[in-house]
Amino acid sequence: MMRILVTAGPTREYLDPVRFLSNRSTGKMGFAVAESAAVRGHAVTLIAGPVTLPTPDGVRRVDVVSARDMLAALRAELPTHDALVMTAAVADWRPRECSPQKLKKQGMRPVLELEANPDILRTIAPEKGARLFVGFAAETGDPLAEAKRKLTAKGLDLIVANDVTRADSGFGVDTNRVTLLYPEAGEIRQHSLPLLTKREVGDRILAWLEGRHKNAPAQNKDS
Ligand code: C5P
Repeated sequence: MMRILVTAGPTREYLDPVRFLSNRSTGKMGFAVAESAAVRGHAVTLIAGPVTLPTPDGVRRVDVVSARDMLAALRAELPTHDALVMTAAVADWRPRECSPQKLKKQGMRPVLELEANPDILRTIAPEKGARLFVGFAAETGDPLAEAKRKLTAKGLDLIVANDVTRADSGFGVDTNRVTLLYPEAGEIRQHSLPLLTKREVGDRILAWLEGRHKNAPAQNKDS
């Protein structure tokens, strides 16, 4: 049994009380990973951005809104978990200012000033220890090349690459076509999966995590 932390959904970056920047993530992939982990007997915490999905049975859920909220929740939860599956589509940018009042059309320059959100995986990398970290790479260009770059740049154990331009994969649908990439014996192994339901993709990720956890040195376990 592992204690698994999953993030899911988009983040929302408000510019006033009624307007925000966000993305097309619905949370389906992350919720499927959380459900799969719970069904397989793991203890699961799900950090969810604003989504409309029901919490899977047996899963503890923490709701967040912005990327900075998600980072704070993750920092609080990480010490009591053995693995992180970072499925969330974190907004890379936020408005430089969030107005406490609804912005008025009159007298406003039609330019939105942005600042960068923290990269959550990079920020928490120093706290990784022996934990297993899984990331996602949702791409519109060359998914495998980008995924390889992010696997290394973000110090991940596994990255799940998917092409979000296909109708049967990516945002909002119940299926996904992904490739698992992971370093092993000095090279990057690549394992392309057929079209699967997101629940089945969740099971494949969990099977990979369980295999890695079982083969990890004893001192890495239940710490
Ligand atoms: O957005 P990007 O393609 O770089 O996302 C790759 C991985 O990094 C995903 O697992 C995503 O959850 C994570 N990420 C993050 N912090 C961000 C943006 C993305 O941890 N600000």
